[in-house]
Amino acid sequence: MSRKQPTWYEQQFIKDMMGLLGGKAIRGISNSFSSPKIYTGKTGVSSMAEVLKAGIDKENRRALIITDSFTKKFASKVTESLDFCEVDYRIYSGVEPEVPLTNIEEGVKICKEFNPTAIISIGGGSVMDAAKIIMFKYEKPETNFYMLLPLGSPLGLRKKIKYLVAIPTTSGTGSEVTNAAVLTDTNRTPYKKFEITWPELVPDIAILDTDFVEDMPPFLTKGTGLDALAHAVGSYVSNWGTPLIDALNITAIKEVIKYLPRAYKYGKGDTEARSHMQMAASLAGLGFGNSLPGIDHSLGHSFGKIFNVHHGLAVGMLLPYSIGFQAKVTDRWKDLCHIFGIEVGNKERDTLLKEFLDALKYFIHSLDAPTCVKDLNEPTINKDDYINKIDLLAEYADDDAVSLLSYRPMTVNLYKKIFEYAWDGKDIDF
Ligand SMILES: [Fe+2]
Repeated sequence: MSRKQPTWYEQQFIKDMMGLLGGKAIRGISNSFSSPKIYTGKTGVSSMAEVLKAGIDKENRRALIITDSFTKKFASKVTESLDFCEVDYRIYSGVEPEVPLTNIEEGVKICKEFNPTAIISIGGGSVMDAAKIIMFKYEKPETNFYMLLPLGSPLGLRKKIKYLVAIPTTSGTGSEVTNAAVLTDTNRTPYKKFEITWPELVPDIAILDTDFVEDMPPFLTKGTGLDALAHAVGSYVSNWGTPLIDALNITAIKEVIKYLPRAYKYGKGDTEARSHMQMAASLAGLGFGNSLPGIDHSLGHSFGKIFNVHHGLAVGMLLPYSIGFQAKVTDRWKDLCHIFGIEVGNKERDTLLKEFLDALKYFIHSLDAPTCVKDLNEPTINKDDYINKIDLLAEYADDDAVSLLSYRPMTVNLYKKIFEYAWDGKDIDF
């Protein structure tokens, strides 16, 4: 395994320091709340174009539209409004799933030729994440983003790109409202996901229009919806929130429980469910983006990359283990029982926890999604292959940025044990 460029959160002294702090002592240092201006509904795109027209002089009005081979079909819905507002544009549609670093280089090259003053991403999480980092590298080519500790002073982005706009075509990643981007480090073998979190990466404008999500196939609806659920539940139980963040996460969970089954079942035929899931994804994005996701995300990043499993399916499958693990040190999960139809009453804690986790698993199963590795069929995973890779799974999870601030401090051995339990769905008992 090559180790070309470790990130700041893989430095041993950082891990040691966070371990000493019990994983929560820097609470309160980062206390700002960030959100884009969010336009909802059918006039969102034209409103955004008007903002560009008003905010940028005509001779400098240039927008780079970033998309991929699947979502470039939506570009015309945006370019019509750009034409009307006299915004010149160019389209880069080469973003690949999970964003290899080569995509960033291609995007920056186009920026240097075209000199955009706005970037508009139209796509799922990968496209929106790529747009953030293309902007970053265009504005600050000298910055080593592997070492970008998110508590640093502002870098002064937006000198070249005045508006970063995100238009999601899935409902789950929340990237349209967060300060985070996940890329694939293709300099390592095997490839590893890595996160860049930086306050100035929060888009300036997000547009939630169901026209962009109505055609999502059921698999994508399910996967991205489970991602939103994991964001909100993982963040809430991880105990990093404020009452403001709690409100966002709780509402997001309620919305997902009510509307994801409908969106999955009826798709384009249920615009109301589509609309609520679109909002739920952004609510959860604001929730975890202004606090932290749970360790379902460090587990899922590792598992998803090593076995090529959809991100949302991976984090959804691993969510019950993440919650079961944190439940040893927090009662936050109890607040969620009523949303899943569980009466708290005077039940024993262990009984209640089991009921809650069973209800969570039942919900995931109701979407034809698995809650253990052996039941995964998209793709199927061979047990020997899984066991052979369990050390690597644990290592990559422990080296994930999310892991650093787990409410319950993590170790490689704990991750290994969780992955062992996840093979056939054993309840966490340690
Ligand atoms: Fe996620």
